[in-house]
Amino acid sequence: MLECKSLIAPSDLSLTELEKLIALARRIIQNPARYAEVCKGKILASLFYEPSTRTKFSFDAAMLRLGGSTLGFSDPSTSSTAKGETIADSARTVGQYADLIVVRHPKEGTAKLMSRYAACPVINAGDGGHHHPTQTLTDLLTIDHYKGNFSGLTVGVCGDLKFGRTIHSLTTCLARFQNVRFLFISPEELAMPVFVKEELDAKGVSYTETTSLEGCIGELDVLYMSRVQRERFISEEEYLRLKDYFVLTTEKMALAKPDMIVMHPLPRVNEIATEVDADPRAVYFDQVKFGMYIRMALIMKLLGMEEPHA
Ligand code: NCD
Repeated sequence: MLECKSLIAPSDLSLTELEKLIALARRIIQNPARYAEVCKGKILASLFYEPSTRTKFSFDAAMLRLGGSTLGFSDPSTSSTAKGETIADSARTVGQYADLIVVRHPKEGTAKLMSRYAACPVINAGDGGHHHPTQTLTDLLTIDHYKGNFSGLTVGVCGDLKFGRTIHSLTTCLARFQNVRFLFISPEELAMPVFVKEELDAKGVSYTETTSLEGCIGELDVLYMSRVQRERFISEEEYLRLKDYFVLTTEKMALAKPDMIVMHPLPRVNEIATEVDADPRAVYFDQVKFGMYIRMALIMKLLGMEEPHA
């Protein structure tokens, strides 16, 4: 069983727990059939108050592939939220039906709030522009697969660093490994927020801020692209001005190391030209698949499920 009952931010997991989750995900990838019934009789509830494709489906698929069942909604207007029910009361209720709750909500802090009231573990599947820890687990498994380790990497994160919750979670998590160096690539208006930079400063982690992707792409081992988070802008005009600030093209890829990998949590809007998809360094669609396996590992651990007998 994991020490933390719920997963709200990546810091809820120790480095040992992260490593164990990655190791379990790798064992599942090797032999998925072995895990096909480990969660038989268990129920996962997914409450999505914001749109999702990958996170929702990968959690559902993960639970189904472990032999468990799922329930939930992806449109809050079909739930009692539309009648004015509070998050606390919804958590108290759903916790009576399910063994595990996955929640995504536009408001920062919602998953933490739910975890205080639910009688089962809660997983944060994205709370506003704050954190998205299971995307980080996905990203770590992907980096581990292609790079073999985290220490010593130069990681460029590019796009909307202000509102991108996947970026906040990944950066603060990777900063816990030795010698990781960051390049924060964004327009000035979408720079990395202070709460992330303070965490890096406290750990003595090195980072450089730049507005030029071309200027630094050649230094990177990992390029993590992200979309401009339209739904978090107050001004549509500002969004339209910034949305196409960075577009990764084959021309820019020609400046990168031959073994750099390009990641993206998806959905992509316009920030990676489709011509880049054919480049073997573009791994964002494999990243999607890793997301399901690491969530299988996480579900097993949070539910305290033992490794099945061979
Ligand atoms: C991300 C999210 O929801 O924060 N998507 C995802 O979960 N894979 C990224 C995004 O929406 O831009």
